[in-house]
Amino acid sequence: MDPYKYRPSSAYNAPFYTTNGGAPVSNNISSLTIGERGPVLLEDYHLIEKVANFTRERIPERVVHARGISAKGFFEVTHDISNLTCADFLRAPGVQTPVIVRFSTVVHERASPETMRDIRGFAVKFYTREGNFDLVGNNTPVFFIRDGIQFPDVVHALKPNPKTNIQEYWRILDYMSHLPESLLTWCWMFDDVGIPQDYRHMEGFGVHTYTLIAKSGKVLFVKFHWKPTCGIKNLTDEEAKVVGGANHSHATKDLHDAIASGNYPEWKLFIQTMDPADEDKFDFDPLDVTKIWPEDILPLQPVGRLVLNRTIDNFFNETEQLAFNPGLVVPGIYYSDDKLLQCRIFAYGDTQRHRLGPNYLQLPVNAPKCAHHNNHHEGFMNFMHRDEEINYYPSKFDPVRCAEKVPTPTNSYTGIRTKCVIKKENNFKQAGDRYRSWAPDRQDRFVKRWVEILSEPRLTHEIRGIWISYWSQKLASRLNVRPSI
Ligand code: HEM
Repeated sequence: MDPYKYRPSSAYNAPFYTTNGGAPVSNNISSLTIGERGPVLLEDYHLIEKVANFTRERIPERVVHARGISAKGFFEVTHDISNLTCADFLRAPGVQTPVIVRFSTVVHERASPETMRDIRGFAVKFYTREGNFDLVGNNTPVFFIRDGIQFPDVVHALKPNPKTNIQEYWRILDYMSHLPESLLTWCWMFDDVGIPQDYRHMEGFGVHTYTLIAKSGKVLFVKFHWKPTCGIKNLTDEEAKVVGGANHSHATKDLHDAIASGNYPEWKLFIQTMDPADEDKFDFDPLDVTKIWPEDILPLQPVGRLVLNRTIDNFFNETEQLAFNPGLVVPGIYYSDDKLLQCRIFAYGDTQRHRLGPNYLQLPVNAPKCAHHNNHHEGFMNFMHRDEEINYYPSKFDPVRCAEKVPTPTNSYTGIRTKCVIKKENNFKQAGDRYRSWAPDRQDRFVKRWVEILSEPRLTHEIRGIWISYWSQKLASRLNVRPSI
């Protein structure tokens, strides 16, 4: 008998109940006792194992994006961009790659309502023939900060007050008043799109600037955009209260029901590209994650489509244990020097090792679907079968060699060690442009939401004044205060 054929799987269910060790269990409803009424005996191995397993059923929830749901499907190339990148999964129209996608809210707990005004996560894991590519994005094209060292503070401000365990806007506005670079992201959070109707009717963005590398070695900066084919739909603040009041998992249910009924959610993937030689031509820094790239100058180019046609089989295995990491890229796609992205390359693997353990990439949902090999082995919960004597490199006994060099950006760097802010901050222009592009009723709803949070009694006159100076006189007149700066 090959013991490794029988890995733990519900597919190998015995026809009768067993312990985890496989021994038959003849009674699963009564504890072993002395006499009818107890006491209970410690030697009831099955009782102890069953309860001990149960008391350990939960793993730590994600420190952010705890509330979410995933679904499976495929990505299909529809337009040839093989001149822009040597990524194998983008090699030709018609090529399909299996994916798993997880949608989420950011701030609240694992079982919080899906109707909160919040950013939504839009994370796609492509299981390519050259390894997994994780495009871990959001439904906003921009982010509040541009340097990863500030991320824990952003999250602490947005999360519930550590004293009251209530999310409080006076804390958020206090912290963010120091971040004028956050204004453009607020133009998504406090706009109508701040509460998507569900996960199917929202856009997605890679957010950061990445790099595409062609076979020729030519390098382009790139931004990724997902557009839902069923259009963008949102909930008004009033609708959100009703929908969330009736069902705190409405978006999870919507995604499940749509797929189960054959109404498969679909998004088109577009890219914007920029020649790095042009990076100084703009009034903003193209690597600045608090800025969008103007679509009239850098138009959206179609690439492919994402179709979600399979619901998950098991929430714990395929959503809770699903682990994304922006560090996972494939040949032909590379990071950029965006300081926030650079920090994320470290943070996700680090949190997964804490949340799931050092072998999290061996879990079926996270493991690459292509052949893979290295000598990073053992540790807690290793379940990879290895029948090898050579676990070091290089070795004359091991035929496995390093792969051929893949093209990477060849920029060279000179500079002094420094901690500083980027030169072209330009914090206000794009936020103003976006606000002015809206119809008056949309502007009005945006202002109304700001008036509401700026009316929080614990906000000081100084902080309120900073926000009014950020958002214009219009807000000042509605709040009946004068800007202090
Ligand atoms: C340096 C800044 C950031 C840090 C340190 C950070 C850290 C984290 C951490 C620790 C998690 C939990 C991961 C897990 O336990 O599985 C997470 C999840 C996530 N983050 Fe970030 N994050 C940062 C910025 C961003 C940005 C800019 C975006 C959008 C582009 C983003 C999108 C997401 C998404 C979508 C998830 C959920 C992934 C899933 O569905 O499992 N994060 N982040």
